[in-house]
Amino acid sequence: MKRKKQRKHSDPAKQFRDKQQKVLAMGIGVVGLIVLVWWAADSFLGDDTVDVTVPELSRVASAGKTAFDANCAQCHGDNAAGSESGPPLVHDIYNPGHHGDAAFYAAAKRGVRQHHWSYGNMPAQPQLSDEEMAAIIRYVRELQVANGITYKPHNM
Ligand code: HEC
Repeated sequence: MKRKKQRKHSDPAKQFRDKQQKVLAMGIGVVGLIVLVWWAADSFLGDDTVDVTVPELSRVASAGKTAFDANCAQCHGDNAAGSESGPPLVHDIYNPGHHGDAAFYAAAKRGVRQHHWSYGNMPAQPQLSDEEMAAIIRYVRELQVANGITYKPHNM
């Protein structure tokens, strides 16, 4: 028994394995820390995207979704949840009392100067007809309602 124990302690292969395990554990710890810091930074700094519940859409809103996906989603994200290039439109700031439908038509016609966020300016989207815009607005409003964003009087 005694001899065996001694041998175990002085076994260089085992010592090497122990060391390897320690290094591995440390490595996992460091990677874990990096992931944690990255995740925390991402959720406290830059990321404004929201979780959007998609309701059953009306016919007009479905047409609006198609136009939205082709013209707006690259910045405002799938389901208007936001992306790295633009804010979510399913957001209290864009409730109909603060940004009525006219603000949407104006955004498409003239673009938007950066003022609420820090994504830069929104370029005009003149390729969209008023009819397509009406469908897009309907789509965004149906998403808003399904996510608890309803008319609030604007008092800012
Ligand atoms: C190239 C990126 C980009 C595209 C494409 C884009 N937007 Fe935007 N949009 C933005 C950014 C960025 C803002 C936020 C500006 C701010 O308030 O700082 C914005 C703001 C808006 C606003 C708020 C306007 C206001 O008065 O504050 C509306 C409404 C809007 N977008 C609708 C749309 C719709 C609808 C489409 C598609 C037809 C679209 N956007 C396409 C980037 C984009």
